[in-house]
Amino acid sequence: MRPLTMVGNWKMHGSLSANQAFLQELLAAPDLGKKPGRFALCVPYPYLAQVSQLLAHSPVVLGAQDISDHSHGAYTGEVSGQMLKEFGTRYVIVGHSERRAYHHETDDCVARKAKAALLNGITPIICVGETESERDAGQTLPVVRRQLQAVLDLLQNKIADCLIAYEPIWAIGTGRVASPHEAQDVHRELRLQLAKFDADAASKVAILYGGSLKPDNAKEMLAMPDIDGGLVGGASLVAKDFLALCAIDQ
Ligand code: 13P
Repeated sequence: MRPLTMVGNWKMHGSLSANQAFLQELLAAPDLGKKPGRFALCVPYPYLAQVSQLLAHSPVVLGAQDISDHSHGAYTGEVSGQMLKEFGTRYVIVGHSERRAYHHETDDCVARKAKAALLNGITPIICVGETESERDAGQTLPVVRRQLQAVLDLLQNKIADCLIAYEPIWAIGTGRVASPHEAQDVHRELRLQLAKFDADAASKVAILYGGSLKPDNAKEMLAMPDIDGGLVGGASLVAKDFLALCAIDQ
C-alpha cells in the first residue's frame, strides 16, 4: 500500500510572521507524525530558508513550487535545482496549471523541469489536468495522457522516483471538487498508462488529487484505490485544516 502523501501548495501566500505562526501551530499538534505518511509544504522561494529551519526534525518536509530547467547561467529570475537543494528542498511542483497558463509552460518544458529536479535529488510532483472546456468536450483523458506521456518520454524509468498530481483546473480554488469516482477514473487511467510503461513504477508512484480538497471532502476522495493523497492549496494555509488532512486514514 502506498502511504498517504499530503502536500500543501501555499502558492503566493505568506509572510515571515504568518509563516512562523502557522508552523508553530502545526508543529505543536500532538498527533502530527504519529501516523506514517509523507507530508510536505511547498512554499514561495523567499521563505525556503525560514521554513526549512522551522521544519527541521519535524515529520513535514520542505517543497518548492517551481524549478528552472537549466542548471545555471544567465536566466534572470530563475532558481536552479542546486539552489533548492541547498535549502533542503525535498519536493518541487512542476507543471502546475497556473504556470502552464500564466507562464506558457509546455509539456516538454514541464518534462525538462522534472528531469532537473531528479538530477538534484529532488522529487518532482508532476501536475496534469484539464480545463473546464476540455472536460465539457470529453477530452479529459486525452489531455492528461498527453501531459503524462511527455514526461514518460523524457524520464523513462526515472518516473518511478516522481509523484503525479491530477488537478482538474475547473476544481482549483473554486470549491467545485471532482466527485471521488470521477477523480478515480482519471487516476486509474494514469496508473494504467504508467503500467504500460513500467509495471513496477505504476504500483509505486503516488498519484495525488488536487482541487478544492478540504477536510470535509477528503476522506471519501482518499478512500479511492488510485488516489494516494492530496495537493492542497487553500486548506494548506490553515494549520488545523492541513493537520486534519494529514490525519486522514485511507
Ligand atoms: P485549492 O486546494 O485551493 O483548490 O488549490 C489546489 C491547487 O492548485 C494545489 O496545487
